[in-house]
Amino acid sequence: MCFVGMSGKLVVVTCGGGNGAHCLAGLAAMRSDIESRVLTLYKDEAERWSAKLDSGMLITVHNEDGSKKTIETKPALVTKDPQKAITGADYIFIVVPAFAHAQYFEAMSPYVGENTVIVGLPGQAGFEFECVHILKSKAKTSAIVTFESLPWACRLIEFGKNIEILGFKDTLGASILKGKQCNLTRPIIETNQYILGEKPKVRRVQNYIAITLMAKSIVHPPIMYGKWSQWDGKPLKEKPLFYQGIDERQAELLSGVSDECMATAKAIEKKIEGLDMSDVIHVFDWYLNYYSDQITDKSNLMMAMRTNKAYNGLVHPMKEVEPGKFVPDFTYRYMKEDVPEGIVPMKGIAELAGVATPYLDEVITWCQKQLNKEFIVGTSLTGKDLEETRAPQKYGISTLQELFSGDFETTPI
Ligand code: NAI
Repeated sequence: MCFVGMSGKLVVVTCGGGNGAHCLAGLAAMRSDIESRVLTLYKDEAERWSAKLDSGMLITVHNEDGSKKTIETKPALVTKDPQKAITGADYIFIVVPAFAHAQYFEAMSPYVGENTVIVGLPGQAGFEFECVHILKSKAKTSAIVTFESLPWACRLIEFGKNIEILGFKDTLGASILKGKQCNLTRPIIETNQYILGEKPKVRRVQNYIAITLMAKSIVHPPIMYGKWSQWDGKPLKEKPLFYQGIDERQAELLSGVSDECMATAKAIEKKIEGLDMSDVIHVFDWYLNYYSDQITDKSNLMMAMRTNKAYNGLVHPMKEVEPGKFVPDFTYRYMKEDVPEGIVPMKGIAELAGVATPYLDEVITWCQKQLNKEFIVGTSLTGKDLEETRAPQKYGISTLQELFSGDFETTPI
């Protein structure tokens, strides 16, 4: 299979300068037929990374058997100039938290050529809506891919220089939304696989709405609500466990939200002929599939999360107000990102599908108060701050049919 572009090399651009961006830029650069470029717009990241580029990067990979290997690699370019980075790009990966996506869409828009693949790694709910909204006609000649998560658990050891991959996911879902004027002949999923390397195995998810309804941003807000809505306001002496500390109420809330996403998928299947939404599964089944080897008690969702070794030591986001005194941090991405670019777009899709969502409504109502925003009013997404979300309603989409028609193929071959 030939993956290279017109220039003789496949031009892969990584947008961002964090943990995931370092990993992708480094891994892609290992292929001799890939030109790996980095675009980072944040503060002085481009200058700092460029200054170290000549001596290359090190990726330390921790293998499952406890051994390690170190890879030397070197992206071709790190810049904050969108024209230099994007011109001639075949694949553009956006590897930053969702609140920073729009800034990259705006910056790249003038330079995106025809038949480009724009990838959200991960996309988070509403990635496609925002991309189409900002790129306008450019989106119609592109394909938009959304990954359900980052392929690796990774962390930066030294900026621009040294990154550690603590683990790879075994498989990872990705959906495609293809502009009807996009004439890409190179296979999209296979090329993504080539760029990422052997692991994880990239699995095609049926369509962009299915991947939105199965996004893992459903996990954090119900747990935050269940944990802190009854809190007496007194600081805690230690940070409570997040996943492994889940109680029956939190598990019920999470399960209820997940049921509503599944009900939405089923309603869509009934209303849109020929559409398969069976990839949208319950969060409990997802845990059993993805963390099978790590969970010791699989009897129910609460026990599966409490006994999932992958979550060892992960605590609630907390601020230390005085030495040894902690209060919850409602500005952390579990709320700041996973509400406007997570459960609110899901609620928006449920609304279009005519599905009642009492659990989602209750969770959003509490979360928006902590964020000092108004997305939902009662059971309807008509709050004054809806513009700050990625719900379909923000983009003027008012019927279910509009999600699956127009200038895009939702299930391209
Ligand atoms: P990160 O936290 O390392 O990203 C930070 C980078 O984002 C910065 O270096 C900068 O380039 C950009 N950024 C931050 N604030 C910005 C701002 N105000 N304006 C513009 N750009 C800004 O993120 P990471 O770890 O690379 O993760 C990327 C995404 O993947 C996130 O959504 C994260 O939730 C998700 N994820 C990360 C995992 C990990 O192991 N690191 C695992 C699973 C998912």
